[in-house]
Amino acid sequence: MARGPLSRYLLLLAQENLEFRLPEIEALLSLCGGQFSSEQEIRINSPFWILNIPSEDMARGLMKRTVCAKSIFELWGQGKSAEELHTSLKNYPLEKMVPYLQSDSTYKICIHAFNKTLTQEEKIERIDALGFLPFDGKVNLKKPEHIFWILEDYGMDPNNIPQKPLYSYFGRWIADGQRELIESYSVKRRHFIGNTSMDACLSFIMANHGRVKANDVVFDPFVGTGGLLISSAHFGAYVCGTDIDYNTVHGLGKASRKNQKWRGPDENIRANLRQYGLEKYYLDALVSDASKPIWRKGMLFDKIITDPPYGIREATRRTGSPKEIVKAMERGTENHISTSSNYHLSDIFFDLLNFAAEYLVMGGRLVYWLPVYKPEYTEEIIPQQPCLKLISNCEQMLSSHTSRRLITMEKVKEFEVHLNFLLFLQRLAEEARANAFKNKSKTIKSEHTIAAAKVILKKSRG
Ligand SMILES: C[S@@+](CC[C@H](N)C(=O)[O-])C[C@H]1O[C@@H](n2cnc3c(N)ncnc32)[C@H](O)[C@@H]1O
Repeated sequence: MARGPLSRYLLLLAQENLEFRLPEIEALLSLCGGQFSSEQEIRINSPFWILNIPSEDMARGLMKRTVCAKSIFELWGQGKSAEELHTSLKNYPLEKMVPYLQSDSTYKICIHAFNKTLTQEEKIERIDALGFLPFDGKVNLKKPEHIFWILEDYGMDPNNIPQKPLYSYFGRWIADGQRELIESYSVKRRHFIGNTSMDACLSFIMANHGRVKANDVVFDPFVGTGGLLISSAHFGAYVCGTDIDYNTVHGLGKASRKNQKWRGPDENIRANLRQYGLEKYYLDALVSDASKPIWRKGMLFDKIITDPPYGIREATRRTGSPKEIVKAMERGTENHISTSSNYHLSDIFFDLLNFAAEYLVMGGRLVYWLPVYKPEYTEEIIPQQPCLKLISNCEQMLSSHTSRRLITMEKVKEFEVHLNFLLFLQRLAEEARANAFKNKSKTIKSEHTIAAAKVILKKSRG
């Protein structure tokens, strides 16, 4: 596709969730029909990034979605010293400035210094030094038509703040991001919460990494209190989920709030969506075991956004023992199996990826959290699936030894059940080999699973 000339914009980012910022901005730019491009090497942990994008509309589109960035500016000049900044401003094309400096317009100039507090005198000094710019409009501090910003970067080290800024920028403010959503959707004021309800900011980041958009159908197979449905619905997607826990899906049982014994009448997923005016986007939540998908073939979701159980604050479980699973499948029934057995972590992710490969639309995204024991982490442990391409992998520390990684994958290939079955058998063979060394009982369990897999294959072949 032919592209017009790119313009330079300065993005001011929030200094938290640092690893999640680049995948968010990349995903959102691609959602707006653009792509991430920067002339400078992005200083990944800096709050200032220069972006090259084709239009102000795209910059506004980006800011309508981002929770990682605070503001965006049309960049008029930059430099490593005041002199460099002024030279760069003098070189900025006059015809690009003039529309915003007209005599019948109003404006104000603001200053933001990162990692330093400037005195009033210093601020006035900086503004006065820009006297060479042809401002013809009137200053209006309360309601100006145009807002200009001087932004100064004093580096990242609070114990070593330089006298002069390392970088200075000047630009015209275009738009703010969606940081206020973090407060307005705070879990603290939500009707229905659980021990593992997803923090609002991360929940929006997940929807953004997933490129959730209006009219998508988004599914969360481990829906819990529906925290992840809320952010997707906020962006106009229709949402649904499943959870193995009857009480959670029905808003019954013990409350997670302090000083409250039982969940009240309005504590359920639907009420959560209603609280934010998003009920019309709620499809439903069902009691169901993610290890045994209930969806008919051909059912396609646009996005799967989920936080599987890690067995830390909630149990990993699935319905039935391996023996019962085989029996139920042989009977061809999916009746309720009351006993629950341990759902091994590696099985959860294997099942999740295969489910996504089969039930996502082409180009659809799977976004999920993977728990990691840090001393053993290497990129090889990230689960793979031939139909899914890894898009991003961002770490959030939990403790000195544990973290979780937000994994984003995109469906790039049609799902083939037989290929998948071969992979399944291959994995079981590997597992069985490893288990043979560890303990016998696990090998027996693997044999049950192989038997179950054979039944699946027989059924899938009709
Ligand atoms: C980490 S929590 C999800 C929290 C959710 N994101 C929220 O905002 O409340 C994981 C959920 O998975 C559910 N779960 C555990 N095993 C399951 C299974 N086999 N199938 C479906 N859900 C399961 C648990 O009941 C729990 O609600």
